[in-house]
This record gives sequence, structure tokens and C-alpha cells, in this order.
Amino acid sequence: MKKLVVANFKMNLTSSEIKKYVMALAPKFKSDKVDLSLALPFVSLESGKFLLSGSDISLTAQNISEEECGSLTGEVSGAMLKDIGVQRVIVGHSERRTRFKETGKSINKKIKIALKNRLQVVLCVGESLIDKNSMKSQAAITAQVDEALKGLYENELENIIIAYEPVWAIGTGKTASVKEIEEGIKVVRKAIETAFSKKAATEVRVLYGGSITAKNISQVVGVAGLDGVLVGGSCLDVATLIYIISVCEAGAKK
Ligand code: PGA
Repeated sequence: MKKLVVANFKMNLTSSEIKKYVMALAPKFKSDKVDLSLALPFVSLESGKFLLSGSDISLTAQNISEEECGSLTGEVSGAMLKDIGVQRVIVGHSERRTRFKETGKSINKKIKIALKNRLQVVLCVGESLIDKNSMKSQAAITAQVDEALKGLYENELENIIIAYEPVWAIGTGKTASVKEIEEGIKVVRKAIETAFSKKAATEVRVLYGGSITAKNISQVVGVAGLDGVLVGGSCLDVATLIYIISVCEAGAKK
């Protein structure tokens, strides 16, 4: 299976800046070993779609409303995302859990809405520094997986990708070690096995995210059982993202 690289722009770059970025990136990307998806801000998704037509790069949204439609000022629905050609959506990112107080219940509703609209989900889970220091990482990750996927059928997991993102590693410059990433992936798969089945646990795609850089990508990509990466800050520079992709391609050959 190809490795997946999701580039999370967060609230960075204007649509004009993204236009320049995409025009520099798209002609340089062609790969039979890596799937690339750009998680652009909402306002750049439609123009991004236009600029990416003819390329192999897909689009990911950074958020989705937990409701279908209606009087919800400022929200963006699953149907709206699907309509403009978005392929998947990030749900449960730690910045949304902490800064916007998103709960397990609302994450679960967002996932169900996304699936209903035939959007794939990149579900982010990961322990905080407090969890880590109090040896509660496993419990925290397991609870996040359980709450998020409650009520889903096993066959729906083919549209769920789980990103293990230790909160203490996001935007901090502190990447988890190979051992820590392996352990996090193991906990994610164990949670899936308990909630669904061994088969589901083996088949679910798991990414790592948290301070990935050009320097540490070769170490990260070598982690056993890793299906790809979620890149934040480092994706803002086209050359760095291209380099990260090239290392993932080399890793995919193994
Ligand atoms: P970072 O962000 O690479 O800047 O740590 C990753 C993420 O938030 O998904």
C-alpha cells in the first residue's frame, strides 16, 4: 500500500500564497509510492481543487460541522466539502480538542457526518504531556479511539485513517522517538482490536504526526507498521515537503 502524506497547513498562508505554493508543487509531484493530500484552510479548498486538477494530489479539509446543515453560522458541512471535491477531513486534532473544547462525543458525530457524506476521516489521537508523565498514555489514546469510533461498523474503518499525534510533539520541535511511535501505533491497533477485531487492527491505516522535519523524516518513516505521516509546520515550505515525500517514497520501497 502507498504511504500517505497529509500536509496540514493549519491557519497559515492566504489563498494567494497557496496558489503560488500549489503551482510550485503540483508539477513536481508524481509518485506511485506516495499519496499526497493537502489539508488547506476552508477558503482555499475550492481554488486548490481547480489548481490541482490534472495532478495526483488530493484535498483534505481541516474540520467539518457535526451537523448536517442549517442555521449554524460559520460552520461548514460535509455536503459542502464533498461538493467541491474534498476527499477527506481531519477530525479530533489536538488543537481543536484543546483550543476549541471538542469532546469525544462531538468528534464521534463529526466522523459519522463525514462518512455519511463519503469523506474519509483522518482521526487524530494522542496523549498529552500530563498523560505521558503520569504513565497514562495508553489509557488516553484508547479512550480517544473508543469515543471517536463508537457506533461505527467495522467495514466503515476502511475510510478511517488514524494519526497518532502525541500532543507534546505537535509544533514543539520534539519528535517522538522510534520506540515511542511504535508504542503509540501498537496502542492504537490494540484499541481497534478490542473495539472491532484483529483483522480491523491489522488493516487500519496509522500515520504519525508531530514535529516532522527534513532532518527526522528518515527515522520516522522507518517505524514498523507506519502507513504515512501528517506534517504540519514543515509542509509550509514546498522544497521541504518535496524532500519529506522523497524520503517516504524510499521508505515505501522496503
Ligand atoms: P507539526 O504539526 O508538524 O507542526 O508538529 C503536526 C500536526 O499538527 O498535525
